[in-house]
Amino acid sequence: MTQTEPQAPGFDHEENVANLQTAGKHTAKTAGKLVSGKIMEPDGKEWSPSSWKLYSAAQQPEWPSLDALESATTRLSSMPALVMPADVHRLQDELARVSTGNAFLLQAGDCSESFDEFSAKAIRDKLKVILQMAVALTYAAGLPVIKVGRIAGQFAKPRSSPTERVNGTDLPAFRGHMVNCELPDLLSRTPDPERLISAYNQSSATLTLLNAFSSGGFADLSHVHSWNLEFVASSKQGKRYNKIANEIDQALRFISACGIEMDSVESLHRVNFYTSHEALILHYEESLTRSDPFSGSWYDSSAHMLWVGERTRQLNGAHVEYLSGITNPIGMKIGHTVTPDELVALCDKLDPQRTPGRLTLITRIGHARIEDVLPPLLETIKKEGLPVVWACDPMHANTITAESGRKTRRFDDILQEIKGFFAAHREVGTWPGGMHIELTGDDVTECLGGLDDLAEDQLHLRYTTTCDPRLNARQSIELAFQVAEMLRA
Ligand code: TRP
Ligand code: MN
Repeated sequence: MTQTEPQAPGFDHEENVANLQTAGKHTAKTAGKLVSGKIMEPDGKEWSPSSWKLYSAAQQPEWPSLDALESATTRLSSMPALVMPADVHRLQDELARVSTGNAFLLQAGDCSESFDEFSAKAIRDKLKVILQMAVALTYAAGLPVIKVGRIAGQFAKPRSSPTERVNGTDLPAFRGHMVNCELPDLLSRTPDPERLISAYNQSSATLTLLNAFSSGGFADLSHVHSWNLEFVASSKQGKRYNKIANEIDQALRFISACGIEMDSVESLHRVNFYTSHEALILHYEESLTRSDPFSGSWYDSSAHMLWVGERTRQLNGAHVEYLSGITNPIGMKIGHTVTPDELVALCDKLDPQRTPGRLTLITRIGHARIEDVLPPLLETIKKEGLPVVWACDPMHANTITAESGRKTRRFDDILQEIKGFFAAHREVGTWPGGMHIELTGDDVTECLGGLDDLAEDQLHLRYTTTCDPRLNARQSIELAFQVAEMLRA
């Protein structure tokens, strides 16, 4: 287990108890147990947006000024919600379909979004790749693909050490642009709460663009398909995917030959595109927690879906406490060290009502281990009858260090982990519900292999990630075609 860090200073116990006594007037539908309109935890404590402060919170920055932090969170608390309850509920319903094997989840985007590389083009290209992947997967699975971006809020990173030694001095670790800046000097690395506001503003602008693109002509099925045809035609190696691309082409022509006016069918022109990020910096999430006026329950208005990371999912930790009380669909990353008992206890805390699709278990086990480690976990959850979504994160346990010292990942290892994921589900008789990918729409050189056979000595060419290595656009589309072949097998 990772170590938990001390609570942020200044949030002493008594102050928290005082907060809690005034909170809890709202009700939550899915989390906790309702006792006269209050959410009671099994241990008798009451949930509120700030109840996480009573627990130990790993991975929180050491904010230099608590006044500045309070000033930022106070302003955030009155800002408009970034996502609406109705959309959050729709995603929940769609994930419920995944949990029963009637849909597939594609969750993808940046490892960590950047304040510096923020442009309409970057957002558009990322969405474009995800849509291209979705077309191949939708066709191959014969099922709806639920599209969720790691986008519009994915600005914070957990770190293995709170400090980093640079030229003989210890600097605070870079924790993502929501917290500090990656430049190796003390001023840049000092956490700045104004960055919480900047993260909100960038998320808001990103969402505006995503909404426009996903409901306008950009997301049109025929359009997206024509990009895939270009991809297949763009290289000798791409021809491998000709067959599936041609079948999609034929299917589209068949529909239109049958007299279905493609232009007038609304659903062919638009997609539902959802946002998600790791709920890491709890002051940010708390400040954006709102009550849904219709149901009276709490939801986190910073994204449709939130997940808890492998390093912060302690059963008695602040992150699990916070997520247990919001009604958004929740993801939880799990690595190879999780035990079946621990997993069930976490599911019970995060989803006591066992709501289908509320909980997505995102495994990040590594290509070499997955076929041994995953089946017993699947068996346990199946035996318990928990209606979860299973998704494969084939990125985070397949990170290696190249000779140059750069972090990278092999395309083949990523593919191998997904193969192992499918094999494990086939063995146990459960549904391999989706995948969780780190990618970008740019032509970066961060992961090895793929159609263009990217080699170690090319990594330095366009290595722009602020954190982990991402698949580039071509590698991402190729991955989708490969998984499409698996889904059909
Ligand atoms: N609306 C449908 C869906 O989201 C079909 C669709 C339209 C689509 N444009 C798309 C599917 C782009 C994938 C990608 O599934
Ligand atoms: Mn990452």
